[in-house]
Amino acid sequence: MGDKAILPPRPLKRSRLLIAAAGVIGVAIAVTVPTAPAGAAASTLGAAAAQSGRYFGTAISAGRLGDSQYTTIASREFNMVTAENEMKIDATEPNRGQFNFTNGDRVYNWAVQNGKRVRGHTLAWHGQQPGWMQSLSGSSLRQAMIDHINGVMAHYKGKIYAWDVVNEAFADGNSGGRRDSNLQRTGNDWIEVAFRTARAADPAAKLCYNDYNIDNWTWAKTQGVYNMVRDFKQRGVPIDCVGLQSHFNSGSPYNSNYRTTISSFAALGVDVQITELDIQGASPTTYAAVTNDCLAVPRCAGITVWGVRDQDSWRSGDTPLLFSGGNKKPAYDAVLNALNAANPNPDPTPTPTPTPTPTPTPVPDGCEATITTTNSWQGGFQSTVTVRAGNAPINGWTVRWTWPGGQSISSLWNGQHSVSGSSVTVRNAAYNGSIAAGGSTTFGFTANGTAATPTATCTSP
Ligand code: XIL
Repeated sequence: MGDKAILPPRPLKRSRLLIAAAGVIGVAIAVTVPTAPAGAAASTLGAAAAQSGRYFGTAISAGRLGDSQYTTIASREFNMVTAENEMKIDATEPNRGQFNFTNGDRVYNWAVQNGKRVRGHTLAWHGQQPGWMQSLSGSSLRQAMIDHINGVMAHYKGKIYAWDVVNEAFADGNSGGRRDSNLQRTGNDWIEVAFRTARAADPAAKLCYNDYNIDNWTWAKTQGVYNMVRDFKQRGVPIDCVGLQSHFNSGSPYNSNYRTTISSFAALGVDVQITELDIQGASPTTYAAVTNDCLAVPRCAGITVWGVRDQDSWRSGDTPLLFSGGNKKPAYDAVLNALNAANPNPDPTPTPTPTPTPTPTPVPDGCEATITTTNSWQGGFQSTVTVRAGNAPINGWTVRWTWPGGQSISSLWNGQHSVSGSSVTVRNAAYNGSIAAGGSTTFGFTANGTAATPTATCTSP
């Protein structure tokens, strides 16, 4: 099999061996070694999306986590998770003031244990309200909405990438106005109250307005939501993102002005997230068009499909998803190829949200630090470092790590750093040195190089 010898050198491990061997025997051999997998196609949706600093997610249903075909695909392909039903109002507050996170946590823990981030869905909505909330009105409903937002966001504080704070508040048809609902009847300001409450409850989460039929730029509903977001930005109502559900079907088809919708919302200063994508019949061309429209807008942060396999879809009869049984559909290849053809995002949206971390084991004393990558793109990445106190409060901390492969910090916030060769030392900022027993703080940075999560040490005086 002499032809093997004329194969071009393979990247990575094998080439390093060649170089090492050449060094040991003292022979100078000119070997052209690809130093990075530049141009290499990623083989999963999540990895392909990450090449341009984006994510690719799916809705996950707690009831399917025992299905190994489902979890195998989901854990391999996606890097963002939305609970399909488990974080909704009826699931999380079945009785007023009694919160239940059993199933929400099942989905959350599965996601985090499999290295994924989580979108929260949803806090204030006319749909899937528990009976007790359906029968409320006026100021007691308004208070119940506020209490619900606070209760759920407190449970997931610091762990959610983005929350769909308000879902589906606008009317279909030509009015461009609000949908009638018990929440709407509490006063037109219910949406901004929800967003202000949410910001205070978890300042680390991006706060989204999420809706369907706001994909076509010419539709009145799209314009209604656009005007609300513009107004919120002008008046300083906290909003960070718009979720385009993007349930496409014959009554609400994909239109090529979708890219205009995405870029127009982005131009208001919010991220756009495609939050519940499914396409009746799963045309590969349409799936590729949606993907390319997101890739064309730097602030389009990522795409979530509303389920894994057709049989998991809320509209399974439409066969609208990327997998059929265990098989990749043509639409899957269309999306993967589009993601792989994308250029690195010139302007990846900063991700201030700490990556969700599994509940850590407390250190007995002193402090510990954990680095997680929150975003990456070709040539760079962003990380969050969680500094956690043990069983005693600390006053001042120092975190140290060593880069494995020539990485370098380009910007660091919530700390003061110094660099010596590959060693990094970060001390607390003036305002975050004191941490209560069992408490934590975070700092973040962007860096050049291949994403790395070295082990960090933490010391406190
Ligand atoms: C759907 C779920 O997929 C179904 O399982 C459930 O029976 C009804 O809700 N817009 C949304 C999602 O924001 O929460 C909806 O999810 C689909 C439409």
